[in-house]
Amino acid sequence: MFEQHPFGKLIAEYIQNTEYPKQPADLYDPIMYILSLSGKRIRPLLVLMGAKLFGKENLQEVVPASIAIEYFHNFSLIHDDIMDKAPLRRGKATVHQKWNDNVAILSGDALLVKAYLELGKSPSAHIPDLLNVFNKVALEVCEGQQYDMDFEKKSNVSEDDYLNMIRLKTSVLLGGALQMGAILANAEQEQQQLIYDFGVNLGIAFQLQDDYLDVYGNPETFGKQVGGDILCNKKTILRIKTEQLLDEESKEEFQKLIDLDTIEDAEKVSRMKNLYAKFEVDKYAEDIKSRYMELAYNKLDSIAVSEAQKAELRMLADTLMHRTR
Ligand code: IPE
Ligand code: IPE
Ligand code: MG
Ligand code: MG
Ligand code: MG
Repeated sequence: MFEQHPFGKLIAEYIQNTEYPKQPADLYDPIMYILSLSGKRIRPLLVLMGAKLFGKENLQEVVPASIAIEYFHNFSLIHDDIMDKAPLRRGKATVHQKWNDNVAILSGDALLVKAYLELGKSPSAHIPDLLNVFNKVALEVCEGQQYDMDFEKKSNVSEDDYLNMIRLKTSVLLGGALQMGAILANAEQEQQQLIYDFGVNLGIAFQLQDDYLDVYGNPETFGKQVGGDILCNKKTILRIKTEQLLDEESKEEFQKLIDLDTIEDAEKVSRMKNLYAKFEVDKYAEDIKSRYMELAYNKLDSIAVSEAQKAELRMLADTLMHRTR
């Protein structure tokens, strides 16, 4: 998606040129595997763009932090795919599927350590501030992931609960990525907060789009199992809104889809999609997404740099909102 962007190339080169020990193969091969798959790599891009926005010239000094964020993200995906029982990631078998759960747990752990090793290569004066943001965000991602799991079993999840959950599991990492770039560019605290807030609002819109694609994505290009969220009873915005709107007749159908474990996967997905269509919850999700994009752009507007310097981030945000994978 951003492979042609100079920053995209910088990130790709760095990842390609990193060597891993050959042994134990089941520890390092999965790491090389997941990093070699065609992820969008937007988080490291955000670190670099956050730094550039505030005038950082030596971007080589920003690369380690950007790689740290991408490693952390990939670590979280390896574990997320176990938790979500996902068979596919970036169009290929997930790590736990290709190897097994134990391999996925441990190679994920090792990748998290690798993230810290990269972060430690940043200019030393900035490391305390970078670590503060990184650790805060990393723990919040865990909190979000736990809510996400808790909600699978919980029936009365509100829209606010959902928004808080996705803020934690997804958005703060985008915000933190941008803030880390800003730190490396010596941006003032207030400016750091604005770019972080831009990222968090963008991240909420990003996860809303992710939930949408999980249902309506094209299996040829999406790279993940379509319908996975429905099968796991994930409390996505589509599901929560549908449940609020159910009439008597649909209530019965909805309950059946939840209770009966004899329904085939494909049938469960298609019947749930019928309910989503009946209440047009895709449009509802689209509306909320636009609202968060607007909030994000408001934050970007307030940042004290020229419009021209913001153009690239604006374009990136637009591209992400219309993505198909
Ligand atoms: C997937 O993130 C996990 C979410 C937070 C939705 P991406 O959609 O950025 O995944 P890759 O890295 O491009 O594969
Ligand atoms: C993932 O959310 C968030 C994290 C990995 C922290 P999802 O479970 O929706 O992400 P995908 O759809 O598997 O990429
Ligand atoms: Mg998940
Ligand atoms: Mg998942
Ligand atoms: Mg998802």
